[in-house]
Amino acid sequence: MPVITHIEDLRVLAKKRVPRMFYDYADSGSWTESTYRANEQDFQAIKLRQRVAVDMEGRSTATTMVGVPVAMPVAIAPTGLTGMQHADGEILAARAAERFGIPFTLSTMSICSIEDVAAHTQAPFWFQLYVMRDRDFIERLIDRAKAAGCGALVLTLDLQILGQRHKDLKNGLSAPPKLTLPNLLNLATKPRWCLGMLGTRRRGFGNIVGHVRGVADMSSLGAWTAQQFDPRLNWKDVEWIKKRWGGKLILKGIQDVEDARLAVASGADALIVSNHGGRQLDGAESSIRALPAIAAEVGSRIEVHMDGGIRSGQDVLKAVALGARGTYIGRAFLYGLGAMGEAGVTKALEIIHKELDLTMAFCGRKRVAELGTDILLPGSFPT
Ligand SMILES: Cc1cc2nc3c(=O)[nH]c(=O)nc-3n(C[C@H](O)[C@H](O)[C@H](O)COP(=O)(O)O)c2cc1C
Repeated sequence: MPVITHIEDLRVLAKKRVPRMFYDYADSGSWTESTYRANEQDFQAIKLRQRVAVDMEGRSTATTMVGVPVAMPVAIAPTGLTGMQHADGEILAARAAERFGIPFTLSTMSICSIEDVAAHTQAPFWFQLYVMRDRDFIERLIDRAKAAGCGALVLTLDLQILGQRHKDLKNGLSAPPKLTLPNLLNLATKPRWCLGMLGTRRRGFGNIVGHVRGVADMSSLGAWTAQQFDPRLNWKDVEWIKKRWGGKLILKGIQDVEDARLAVASGADALIVSNHGGRQLDGAESSIRALPAIAAEVGSRIEVHMDGGIRSGQDVLKAVALGARGTYIGRAFLYGLGAMGEAGVTKALEIIHKELDLTMAFCGRKRVAELGTDILLPGSFPT
């Protein structure tokens, strides 16, 4: 077993253990993947100011996100098909998040259902909603999330239509995987994953199968998304969803200052600066570059969160310094899950926490509230 010291170690291990179709689904962006790459690279360009001889005793990374106490300003991002990276993936990741003291967000397109995750966890998790054409189904989903005690609704606004990801098309992505000869040959090299999958009944879209007429035998993500994701989604829908939900509402997928103003006007509790991890509009600005202008414009009126490209605690620190109240990790936790299940997600969280804590100390700060642009090297960060 290799010694795991950073998220890249988990990625390498996940690549070995997860069937290619699902590993590629996580480690990919749309079209040329330029936004996917920029999300990570633009963090690298931001430099930190080293401070010394500052008393560092008694540091804390704790803060709150939409009023929820969190052990660090990080939540688990909603990711579809998580139960295909590892058997029962959503339940395992939710448990790891709960034990660590951070929110877990369950995707509409999860393998484990809302009810299933609720039955296996104590802490309220957050639920991410995609708006489908079938509005009765959406109303029932919102009601199910309420009944399960979800602590916040994360409404994703940047996937009315699906960005094209070349690898998914080439691999014929589906859950469960289609047993073509190349897929079978690849599965034969992933015995751990196969054993896990043979030992679970959770292999379809838990929130959908059995809850919508005509999709009991659904196997193709592409066909489902083409039919059901609602291209008509607009700000009026945000209004009725907010009313129907009645709890904390977080709007995900804001990259533009104008949309951030509309998010404030909608009465949401938070917005997430996000380009869906570079999976939708290829060519969009990285989220860390989009963040400062949005935080400056609306940060005093709504909580501004961000995701995209976070692979270390230093990235979290940079995002917070540039105005994010909280961040979300997608691939960083998926790699942990694919590599080592629940223990891998815990490992990913430990790595990020340690990097954040140590970097705060090197920058001479003891509290998250003390992180501002004055810990960054002038000229190295977007304004
Ligand atoms: C494999 C995968 C599946 C995703 N599925 C969803 C989803 O179902 N709903 C959603 O709102 N965002 C989804 N996202 C986007 C994430 O919530 C998040 O915005 C993105 O992963 C952040 O970038 P990062 O992976 O670089 O941390 C997905 C991302 C990945 C990598």
